[in-house]
Amino acid sequence: MQHKSAQGEFFSDALTKAIKEKFYHVDIDPISHKKRLFFDNSGGSFRLKAANDIFTKLDQLPDCPEHGNKTAKWLMEIQEEGYQSIETILNSKGGSIVTSLTASMVMFDMVRAVVEHIPGGNVVTTMLEHPSAYDAMVAYAEKTGKELRIAKTNPLTGGVDVAEIIKLIDEDTCLLNFMYASNISGALLDAAKIVEAARKIKPDLYIVADAVQHAPHGIIDLQKVPVDGINFAPYKFFGPRGFGIGYVSERLSKLAHHKLIAKSQDFWQLGSPAPGHFAAITEVVKYVCWIGEQYIKSTNRRMLFVEGMNRIKLHERALMHAMLEGTSTIEGIRQMAGVHAYLDHKDLTQKDFILPIGFDHLGYKEAVKMYEEAGVITYERLISSPYSARMLESLGLKGSIRVSPMHCHSLADIATFLKITKALCKK
Ligand SMILES: Cc1ncc(COP(=O)(O)O)c(C=O)c1O
Repeated sequence: MQHKSAQGEFFSDALTKAIKEKFYHVDIDPISHKKRLFFDNSGGSFRLKAANDIFTKLDQLPDCPEHGNKTAKWLMEIQEEGYQSIETILNSKGGSIVTSLTASMVMFDMVRAVVEHIPGGNVVTTMLEHPSAYDAMVAYAEKTGKELRIAKTNPLTGGVDVAEIIKLIDEDTCLLNFMYASNISGALLDAAKIVEAARKIKPDLYIVADAVQHAPHGIIDLQKVPVDGINFAPYKFFGPRGFGIGYVSERLSKLAHHKLIAKSQDFWQLGSPAPGHFAAITEVVKYVCWIGEQYIKSTNRRMLFVEGMNRIKLHERALMHAMLEGTSTIEGIRQMAGVHAYLDHKDLTQKDFILPIGFDHLGYKEAVKMYEEAGVITYERLISSPYSARMLESLGLKGSIRVSPMHCHSLADIATFLKITKALCKK
């Protein structure tokens, strides 16, 4: 199949319907009971019913997985299966899995371990990073007296060019930290090229990557792109809130970190994570494999998972193409007078489905409010917000309306959004 198809490829209508039924609250707001298009999945994705149901069920059990009774042992097996599911997502072998309350906490811990214990006069990151990675780099660079080098963004693509990162790396670099994809622009960074080129300059360079935005939209393969640390967040990946997941390579796992004395040096878990979270991530993997099974036959879980993620990516790209270029009934954002797609990189294979847009005659906040009144949930990214200012400024934007649908949306949903957008253009 053509995973690289520039315009993507829709799921069949039957599969789109079956997918929608597997998620909670896709078409109706559960509080107001009104119809809505939830296009703010980058702030927290639709919940897979199977993942949330198993989480709720297991969280009712008082049993401690580390104890010896039968139900406790059953919980421990579920936890073990959860670790394997995380390995399926990342294609990791060896190293250690780290879990915490949030992906940000995992990021701070990984950065701290490297910057505090690996020699080198500088650390490198990008202007596009989420505060969890950027602020961790600032904090530990300051603490250890290392120079912080920051790669600039590319306002044409909404990403960061490989060369901008690589020119900052030298023999004295302690850590490189970059994101797989931007939660502001959707732009993908070329992780494979970044890692390869960085290690050409310094073969034993420590590299950490933030995959929180990208994980629900594409493939991560640690065998092909070997980084020392990576994180993602189940609540953006069809699962429950309250869990952050990371992987640390064998050498990173052994660096000094917060740990209990009784545990081995490479063990990063602190305390007792909820078994329900591990069961939920297994359900997410089973779901993606189920999509894969609609297209290929295999008994290999990773192969099915990769096929499922590729199909998600293709459907999302087809939706994104329709949003930009229009459908048979309505023109797209690129043609519509009065609204603009920002950072509109023409090559959609280089983007996850996030569209920053803006109107000629509506402020960002105002437009988000009007979208909500019309039944569409979006999110404003404003230069006045510390969560957005650095990235927006570097991209030459004062703000944007972030539109982030998900693979369980249909072409009809995009057409509805475009009709509402056209009406807002006329206000
Ligand atoms: C790209 C990116 N990295 C990291 C995070 C932080 O994730 P968490 O909320 O789980 O700490 C976010 C959350 O918005 C994000 O979008």
